[in-house]
Amino acid sequence: MLHSYDAIILGAGAAGLHCAAMAGQMGARVLLLDHAAKVAEKIRISGGGRCNFTNRDTTPAQFLSDNPHFCRSALARYTPQDFIALLQRHGIGFHEKHRGQLFCDQGSERIIEMLLAECEAGSVERWQPCAVRAVRHGAAGYEVDTDRGSVSAPRLVVATGGLSIPKIGATDFGHRLARQFGHRIVEPRPALVPLTFPAQDWAPFAALAGLSLEVLIDAGSGKKRTRFLEDLLFTHRGLSGPAVLQVSSYWRPGEPITIDLAPGRDLATELKAAKARSKRQLGNELAAQLPQRLADTWVQRQGLDASLPMPQARDRDLEALGASLGGWQLQPDGSEGWRKAEVTAGGVDTRELNQQTMESRLQPGLHFIGEVTDVTGWLGGYNFQWAWASAAACATAL
Ligand code: FDA
Repeated sequence: MLHSYDAIILGAGAAGLHCAAMAGQMGARVLLLDHAAKVAEKIRISGGGRCNFTNRDTTPAQFLSDNPHFCRSALARYTPQDFIALLQRHGIGFHEKHRGQLFCDQGSERIIEMLLAECEAGSVERWQPCAVRAVRHGAAGYEVDTDRGSVSAPRLVVATGGLSIPKIGATDFGHRLARQFGHRIVEPRPALVPLTFPAQDWAPFAALAGLSLEVLIDAGSGKKRTRFLEDLLFTHRGLSGPAVLQVSSYWRPGEPITIDLAPGRDLATELKAAKARSKRQLGNELAAQLPQRLADTWVQRQGLDASLPMPQARDRDLEALGASLGGWQLQPDGSEGWRKAEVTAGGVDTRELNQQTMESRLQPGLHFIGEVTDVTGWLGGYNFQWAWASAAACATAL
């Protein structure tokens, strides 16, 4: 005789915990399973340990998906304000850091404690660590064989997340389970991830490692072309920082990215104007406009003499210098991959899910929530907001 529940939720991460708590509090008997020993490890390490748990300015425009309108309904029905209200009920302090990004004052652990308390209030049973061996659909609904025995429920929720950071428990389990029930998977790829460049192309820029500045960055092509005004960080192997993490979600192998290192400025015109009044050397003049190391590297890269007095500089060299700083085009050869990616782009194809309930259109009673779906947010709290909103949409159906 299988022990049975109203719903079994696989994955006790952000989406799984929130869904379990809400469904439990609405009266469903919920079993939550996770193969990891520690609960919600990604919440713990998120936002540098302070969990950027939502973004006040969330709209569907900050999400990527092959089915871009899918996320609208869930995001509209469970808003950042709903999650903020939950924190406030638990007396958890938070602050806004940058462009609507909300962080927890006392650290991510408080969010985990809150979600666990909410699960307890919903009498959620949690088995952890618990390995899932097999899932079937039979007479008793969904039958799940685990290393603690077999259980069943008429509804099964897959909240096992994406592929990033395998060392803390990420697996492709959710994608495999989706395929088992006939679902298509939009090809998963690392997103919000630093980009890398061929060693020989990168050598001239290696001296810039550690330098950070605000840039305008562009990637993608056609309708998928996107630009961000964000901070860029030079590393020994390539580029990182919010600017590159954001475009990495849109970048496809073989495509270039373009960076304006002096956004909002026309450096060519500024340099030509400086030529008329400045007695500085070219290198020093540029260093007055940009970080010194960047100025040095660019003068060298353009094959110019840094010690040339400005009045002797040729207009066409100043124009070329300004243009190359304003439209630096590079060809990444890859990314730092799953080891460093904050999220997975792609996943369970949402054209086969119901946007109101996250339920499969192919297999009644089977739901997919959170990062396992093909819905990927920008950097800045949007991925957690998707986890909360998709969980809430699903919970109403359990
Ligand atoms: P999540 O990954 O949270 O949970 C999935 C759960 O399923 C895990 O507990 C895992 O152990 C379990 N699981 C996997 N395979 C299983 C199996 N075979 N059997 C049983 N259980 C299984 N987002 C954001 O909005 N703000 C932020 O500040 C950050 N910061 C951040 C930092 C870093 C370093 C990373 C890697 C990611 C972020 N993110 C983020 C992204 C955010 O963490 C992520 O989008 C959500 O945690 C996704 O929630 P889910 O519940 O879908 O998956």
